[in-house]
Amino acid sequence: MSTKPLLLIVDDDPLISDALSYTLSSEFDVVTSHARPHCQALLRQLRHPPQAALIDLGLPPQPHRPDEGFALIGELLAHAPDMKIVVLSGQNDDDNARHARTLGAIEFVEKPCDPGKLLALLRRTLAFSAPATASNPQDALIGESLPMQRLRLQLTQYANLGFPVLIEGESGSGKDIVANHYLHRLTARRDAPFLALNCAAISPALLEPTLFGHARGAFTGATSARAGYFEEAGEGTLFLDEIGELPPDLQPKLLRVLENGEYQRVGETQTRVAKARVVAATNRDLRQEIKAGRFRADLYHRLSVFSVSVPPLREMGRDRLLLLDHFRKLYASQAKCPPFSLSPEAEQCWLDYAFPGNVRELRNIVIRLTARYPGEVVSPDQLRIEFDASEAVDRDNLLPQGAPLPKIQGDPRIDTALSHLQSNGEIDLDAILALWERSYIEAALALSGGNVSQAARRLGINRTTLYNRMESWHRT
Ligand SMILES: Nc1ncnc2c1ncn2[C@@H]1O[C@H](COP(=O)(O)OP(=O)(O)OP(=O)(O)O)[C@@H](O)[C@H]1O
Ligand SMILES: [Mg+2]
Repeated sequence: MSTKPLLLIVDDDPLISDALSYTLSSEFDVVTSHARPHCQALLRQLRHPPQAALIDLGLPPQPHRPDEGFALIGELLAHAPDMKIVVLSGQNDDDNARHARTLGAIEFVEKPCDPGKLLALLRRTLAFSAPATASNPQDALIGESLPMQRLRLQLTQYANLGFPVLIEGESGSGKDIVANHYLHRLTARRDAPFLALNCAAISPALLEPTLFGHARGAFTGATSARAGYFEEAGEGTLFLDEIGELPPDLQPKLLRVLENGEYQRVGETQTRVAKARVVAATNRDLRQEIKAGRFRADLYHRLSVFSVSVPPLREMGRDRLLLLDHFRKLYASQAKCPPFSLSPEAEQCWLDYAFPGNVRELRNIVIRLTARYPGEVVSPDQLRIEFDASEAVDRDNLLPQGAPLPKIQGDPRIDTALSHLQSNGEIDLDAILALWERSYIEAALALSGGNVSQAARRLGINRTTLYNRMESWHRT
């Protein structure tokens, strides 16, 4: 068996992916993909997720826009939160590459890239690893700000009460760490298993047997009977990450387990009883998902008996400095170099930056600064190039007070439906609401100059939800 790390290359130009695989195969096992759907399927087939990915932003069906690449970053991290993602960027693509970093990419390299430099960069990036599990759960979660203190208090109160807990929070804010390193370890279940299943990372057809187990011969490939996660978690914790992605046909089955503990393996009639505590997480607004008919309200109420929200970093004040200090020392010791420090002015910039990609973005910036400025004092200018310019100019892009609003380009079908309704005809309310929704999304995108993250903020939803909504247009 190979001991080389696995590298995923995603580029729609076969010349580039072939050349890169050839050069990098000396140190990596390489898998390649040319587009997002193919990449999703590929990831599901792999036994272990790639440790690193090298991705292009312009992918089909929009090879001249970065959106597919942006969405891919979210999907890769949903699949494997620790994957090191390096973006390959064309010329004049700096802003996009920087934005990719707020989404969770760790570095970007310009095309055409020097294979030697690329190898060195990948080596360096892979040398930084996640912190070892803190022996005390209190040390796993850094932050003393009020929202963090409130979160800790809530988790302590809920820890031993067996009911499900729903963890909400933006991408990169620390939901995984809250579920695994904090909540589970606070409970009396701490010595029982903690099992995590990412509902977005597994093919919908496999979710049911994975959760509930299956009988021998239950489906093609089920050569022996298997226990599912509910069984294997025993009296421990079952963490259902990205619960918003749970397919509609599975939602009633999960609801049943939550209501009375009962479930069946796929292909069996015998009823089994689950004892594990369910903790779910989402970065989607589930209330919006309910309104859109994609998530059952009764399941949401069951899951959210206790719900906590992990604060975004921009609301955590000086915790930005505590986290900086923690990661700076950790990564310097991993890289066996002295830590960098920030000049007083740079420290102020650090405090002023909103970190739209939350702690994950902060951590990635620290990794880059550690590699670039070992033992040095980093200036504001050196720091600013690490930040996402499109986020920093956010406020300037708002329309001046009193400026005329762009007219919402309502779809003519909305008017048609209204007259149909007036003349006692029946209409499809969901379809009409979807048209309204689309009009508002298009208006928000227009107001934000096409910047999806800004548009998402204006609409009060997160970027992943916005991408999902936009994707649904192609399906209707
Ligand atoms: N308060 C914190 N203290 C220490 N480390 C943190 C904290 N919050 C987040 N991290 C670190 O930041 C990184 C991202 O966190 P995590 O993967 O838990 O985010 P997430 O909310 O699950 O994001 P996503 O929605 O993208 O899955 C991880 O390396 C995690 O260890
Ligand atoms: Mg997560």
